Amino acid sequence: MHPYLNIALIAARKAGDKILQTIDRGETLRITEKQTNDFVTHVDHLSERIILNEIQKAYPQHAILAEESGEKPGEEACWIIDPIDGTANFMRGYPQFAISIGIKVKDKLTLGLIYDPIKQEVFMAEKGRGAYLNDKRIRISPRSKFANAIIAVGMPFPKETKRLQAYTRIVRSIFRECGDIRRGGSAALDLAYVACGRVEAYWELNLKPWDIAAGVLIAAEAGAIVTDTAGKQDFLNNGNVLAATPKLYRDVYRLCCESPAL
Ligand code: 2AM
Ligand code: CA
Repeated sequence: MHPYLNIALIAARKAGDKILQTIDRGETLRITEKQTNDFVTHVDHLSERIILNEIQKAYPQHAILAEESGEKPGEEACWIIDPIDGTANFMRGYPQFAISIGIKVKDKLTLGLIYDPIKQEVFMAEKGRGAYLNDKRIRISPRSKFANAIIAVGMPFPKETKRLQAYTRIVRSIFRECGDIRRGGSAALDLAYVACGRVEAYWELNLKPWDIAAGVLIAAEAGAIVTDTAGKQDFLNNGNVLAATPKLYRDVYRLCCESPAL
C-alpha cells in the first residue's frame, strides 16, 4: 500500500473509533448551524482534529484542504478531508456517513480512502491500481439495462427556486426511465457504492471537493466513467459529478446533462 494511504487509513480508523464511541456513549451532540440547514457537530471537529494530527505527524510539509478548518498551504501533496460526510445523517443516527480522504500528489488526484465506521467498510484506491473494499478488489455493476438500473442522486443545497426546479425535473426524468432512485445523503458513499456495484450510477451538483475527492478516484478505478456535467474532469473545481458504468453513462449523461431544464 502507498505510504500516504497507510497514514490515511490509520487516521480514518482513529477518527472512526472516536465517532463510534460518541454514539455508543449516547453523547449529547453540540450542533452549530454553519448556514441555513447546513450543520456541524462537535464530533465533526473532533474527527477532523484526529485526522489532521495523524497526517501532520507523518507529513508536516504537505498541504491540507479540510471541510471544517480550511486550507493550509504546503508542498508535494494535498490532503482533501471530510471528517464526516453525511453530517445530517450522523446527527440523527441514520447510519449512512463516512470519513473521506482524497490525496493529490503533485496536483494530480492519486489516492483516495473512504471509511464507513458503522459498517466497518474501507474503500480505497490508488490511481492505476484498482479499487478495493476491505482488501478485496471491487468492480462496478455489470447491469446493462437502464430500465433496471438504480441511480443515486443528490438534492440541491441551497434550495433556491431555479436550482430546485432544475433538480426536480432531472430527478423526475431519471426516475421515469430507470429502475429506481436512492438519496443516501453522503456523496462519498454514493461514489463508493458506484465503485462496488451497489448502484449503477450517481449524479449530484454543487458539491465540495472534500465530499468527492476520494470517491471519484475510487469509482473511476473500479471501472466507472466519472465526469462533471460538461463531460470533463473538472469536478473538483465545479462540484458537479456524474459517475456511471460505461454501459449506462450515455443514458445518465443525456438525462442529467443535456436536459433542457439546465
Ligand atoms: P456533508 O455532510 O459533509 O455536508 C449529499 O447531498 C452531500 O451534500 C453530502 O456529501 C453532504 O456533505 C452535503 N450536504 C448535505 N446536506 C447539506 C446541506 N444542508 N448543505 C450543504 N451540503 C450538504
Ligand atoms: Ca462534512
